[in-house]
Amino acid sequence: MVFKNLHRFSGIIVSVFVVAHLFNHTMAWFGIATHQQILEFLRIVYQQPVVEIILIGCFLFQAYSGVILIVQLRNKEEKSSYEKLQIYSGVVLGLFIIQHISATIGQRIYYQFDTNFYFASRVVLQYPINLFFVPYYFLGILSFALHIANVHRLKIMKAVGQKQAQTHFTIILSLFILVAILILFVFMGGKYAIVIPNQYQVY
Ligand code: HEM
Ligand code: HEM
Repeated sequence: MVFKNLHRFSGIIVSVFVVAHLFNHTMAWFGIATHQQILEFLRIVYQQPVVEIILIGCFLFQAYSGVILIVQLRNKEEKSSYEKLQIYSGVVLGLFIIQHISATIGQRIYYQFDTNFYFASRVVLQYPINLFFVPYYFLGILSFALHIANVHRLKIMKAVGQKQAQTHFTIILSLFILVAILILFVFMGGKYAIVIPNQYQVY
């Protein structure tokens, strides 16, 4: 119960970041300069050393506490469909979080480059690495959406009934899928031509 409460509390903190983060990427629709402006504005908050340590700590805690929650549920004989979806989406989300955070922060430190639009765009634009990174980013957003929409459905079910809760689930999921498609479309060069600077061709 302690882990579940902490997972929920830390989950709210990381969700605020994820929504702002995806909004930032969505705004690339209006151009790379707009994306960069919003990125720099958001960084004023989340790249403050103390804030960043807390944020990354919360993400790592989500993965750690998520595994504990799965272990606790493992011994339960009849798992509900809610619990099963939390486990499956949680596993994918956990793998995405670990890879994504190590890649962004690791490459920022190792190559000392700005992890901006070009950093993310290159891996979904260039063949053959895009074969991995397009589904990877899509699954990262999808697993987050499923995890959040599923909790939301459960929490409002008693108050609004099963049918309306299901409608909320479908709307949240569809919105995030649209966001994922829009981001990938723009970052893959569908809206305007993208020329990746040479410094990003590191692998
Ligand atoms: C962005 C990261 C994540 C967020 C925002 C998040 C959020 C949440 C929230 C709000 C709940 C509901 C807690 C409650 O019932 O009060 C939950 C449940 C759960 N989460 Fe996550 N979570 C994240 C990552 C993960 C990961 C990485 C895993 C697995 C490795 C995971 C596994 C689970 C499981 C198994 C439950 C169901 C627990 C139960 O009902 O007994 N979560 N999550
Ligand atoms: C298509 C989707 C996504 C793209 C293109 C993307 C891209 C990026 C980029 C470029 C950065 C570096 C930001 C900076 O230097 O300020 C970053 C950082 C990060 N991303 Fe994502 N991301 C995506 C989805 C997600 C999702 C779904 C999550 C969480 C569930 C996430 C979590 C993070 C975290 C925790 C950081 C590190 C923030 C920091 O610098 O402290 N991202 N991402």
